[in-house]
Amino acid sequence: MIKIESLTVQFGGVRPLDALEGEFTAPICGLIGPNGAGKTTLLNVLSGFVTPVKGSVALNDIALRGLSPTRRVAAGLRRTFQQELVVDELTARENIQAIADHISASRQDARDEIARALGFVELTGRADVLGRQLNLYERRMIEIAKTLIGRPKAILLDEPGAGLNESETDRLRRLLMQIPERFGAQLVLIDHDADLIASVCIETMVLDFGKLLAFGPTRSVLDDPVVRRAYLGTM
Ligand SMILES: Nc1ncnc2c1ncn2[C@@H]1O[C@H](COP(=O)(O)OP(=O)(O)O)[C@@H](O)[C@H]1O
Ligand SMILES: [Mg+2]
Repeated sequence: MIKIESLTVQFGGVRPLDALEGEFTAPICGLIGPNGAGKTTLLNVLSGFVTPVKGSVALNDIALRGLSPTRRVAAGLRRTFQQELVVDELTARENIQAIADHISASRQDARDEIARALGFVELTGRADVLGRQLNLYERRMIEIAKTLIGRPKAILLDEPGAGLNESETDRLRRLLMQIPERFGAQLVLIDHDADLIASVCIETMVLDFGKLLAFGPTRSVLDDPVVRRAYLGTM
């Protein structure tokens, strides 16, 4: 469970988040809104890269304020970035290993967790391929595999579907739906693909210029005329 209370972020004259309130309780939650709405900023606050001027966030009732990004990882928080961070010179396995070295409880745990994560994203057969030889979809899968290491409690994904074709999006959808049950982690998903959001997210938060536009069961949120107006032409 991720709780957000009167959260305000200020960058000079810009307020990417303005008195935001809400609680993600469903196993898979959507976070949507037009470009510049503040979605990535919210992930940055949750993961500890941006300090709010006001308000607080909590993961499963643990207050995150004052914890460094590393401490938040230890608390079970994981995220991906809009720009993926796969290292070209490392193999698929080594990219995941680099994370496991930091957070797995033991070497044996690391080996088991890496094998499980690679298997889950269906890249076992590509484990020894260098990052630079992986295609966009495979690189996205490596990024997701990295979040599955070390018993995550919540995983925040920043546009994992961007640039994927239809069949890749279908594969992504199938995997995302299994994460809460298979890995015991809550998922928060940012994406511009309303069909993907509608098919995997039980509840969805809509941001617009840093403010909460709508929040609730995904279908009713996506059908909300106020939401549709904010998205005119993009969904
Ligand atoms: N580090 C920063 N410094 C100044 N402005 C920023 C910074 N990060 C984001 N912003 C601004 O905050 C707003 C929200 O950005 P962002 O959270 O990236 O939106 P989204 O992910 O919804 O597209 C935008 O107006 C953006 O230009
Ligand atoms: Mg963004």
